[in-house]
Amino acid sequence: MSSKGNNNQSQKLWGGRFEEATAASVEAFTESISYDKRLYRYDIEGSKAHATMLAANNLLTRDELRSLIDGLSAIQKDIEEGDFLFKSELEDIHMNIEKALIDAIGPTGAKLHSARSRNDQISLDLRLYLRDQCDRLMGLLDDTQRAFVVLARKYMGKVMPGYTHLQRAQPVLIAHHMMAYYEMFGRDKDRLADCRKRINVLPLGAAAMAGTGLPIDREMVADLLGFDAVTANSMDTSGDRDFAMEFVSCCTMIQLHLSRLSEELVLWSSQEFSFVQIADKFCTGSSIMPQKKNPDIPELIRGKSGRVVGSLMSLITLMKGLPLTYNRDLQEDKEPVFDAVDTVSASLAIMAEMLGNLKFNTERMEDATKTGFITATDLADYLVMHNVPFREAHGIVGRAVAACIEKGCELTDLSLEDMRGFSPVIGHDIFEVLSVEGSVNSRKSTGGTAGMQVEKAVNSAEKKMGIGE
Ligand code: ARG
Repeated sequence: MSSKGNNNQSQKLWGGRFEEATAASVEAFTESISYDKRLYRYDIEGSKAHATMLAANNLLTRDELRSLIDGLSAIQKDIEEGDFLFKSELEDIHMNIEKALIDAIGPTGAKLHSARSRNDQISLDLRLYLRDQCDRLMGLLDDTQRAFVVLARKYMGKVMPGYTHLQRAQPVLIAHHMMAYYEMFGRDKDRLADCRKRINVLPLGAAAMAGTGLPIDREMVADLLGFDAVTANSMDTSGDRDFAMEFVSCCTMIQLHLSRLSEELVLWSSQEFSFVQIADKFCTGSSIMPQKKNPDIPELIRGKSGRVVGSLMSLITLMKGLPLTYNRDLQEDKEPVFDAVDTVSASLAIMAEMLGNLKFNTERMEDATKTGFITATDLADYLVMHNVPFREAHGIVGRAVAACIEKGCELTDLSLEDMRGFSPVIGHDIFEVLSVEGSVNSRKSTGGTAGMQVEKAVNSAEKKMGIGE
């Protein structure tokens, strides 16, 4: 027994040099087990690989290794069956598991922590956890992208106004608008895949911060745990949370994309727009106004972006000004990371489900393309094709629009004669050019809204996502 006097330090794995028991207030303030218990699976997986390597390097006997592995498996089973008592006086997930192991298998359990520190252990656990979360989020992003491709296919050929400054700008295909989100969530996936590369590097072996004098084999542990490489500098490793900040910024970008989409759904489902109907089962009513059907899901997703941005702010502020190497501040990284994971996962899952139940009011959307001089740019482009310099063309069309506003009509209501009054190059083919269909189909540039371009984009997305196979 390492503790002196009558105190509870015998419980503590670091109790040797202490004479006094830790104050209860300090235990409550410093514990992380209430939230880092979420990492138990990774902690155990990491410990098994570490033990296997210790045995291969003669730091454990075969029997000791067997007993450690069995002990760890039994603890995992207890945790999963709800039979494990997490203790806050044991601070964190590492010591809760290690203490339970020592209690269960005796002195062999106390050999596990050779050549390891909680500093490299927590980095390992977090990396293993985040590697899984990258894969899971990429799967959820796939589902969301798929929902957009399905909508694009379903509404192929139908038009809507495209907006800039939230003013009607140019007509586009609904499918084109859907595929814009497909692209955004695709970039989010790429970002996660890239972030995963920097997560997937083994920190274990950095020990407290200077490395270890014991004969270990880091490459072997990396291999056992599926890491691509081992970290290069033990001091960097011990205090590095770049990978966590990078991961949460990926989450932030996803949530911001979801939030912009949510804003559009809120607008579009308003009576003023009436572009979409969100299924009843994804809406709620008002406790006072019986006529209301509220778009709560997109509103909440939009609102939750505050949480994710907040998590990113917490994390980057936490890192600012930390000297090398490990500092206890780093314990504060877990909650923002977990909250970002939970919020983004839940938001993506429900968004994908809601999109699968979304209906567009295509007539209403098409009607909205018929007013607001939405094909004015096409008239300018027409003049350019007839050798009128663009700036001059812009002025001509501006004057034509002003005249229409005065008359209370649309460009398409003008006669050919009226039109020619603005520019003599205008011929009778102008009416096709000013039609919504003509406008959309003229935008054949790569990435444009012409039917043939959008069809190409949807086809390739369907192939990529394995839709319709
Ligand atoms: N709970 C700690 C954390 O999350 C684990 C590492 C603690 N290391 C230490 N030397 N106190 O950062």
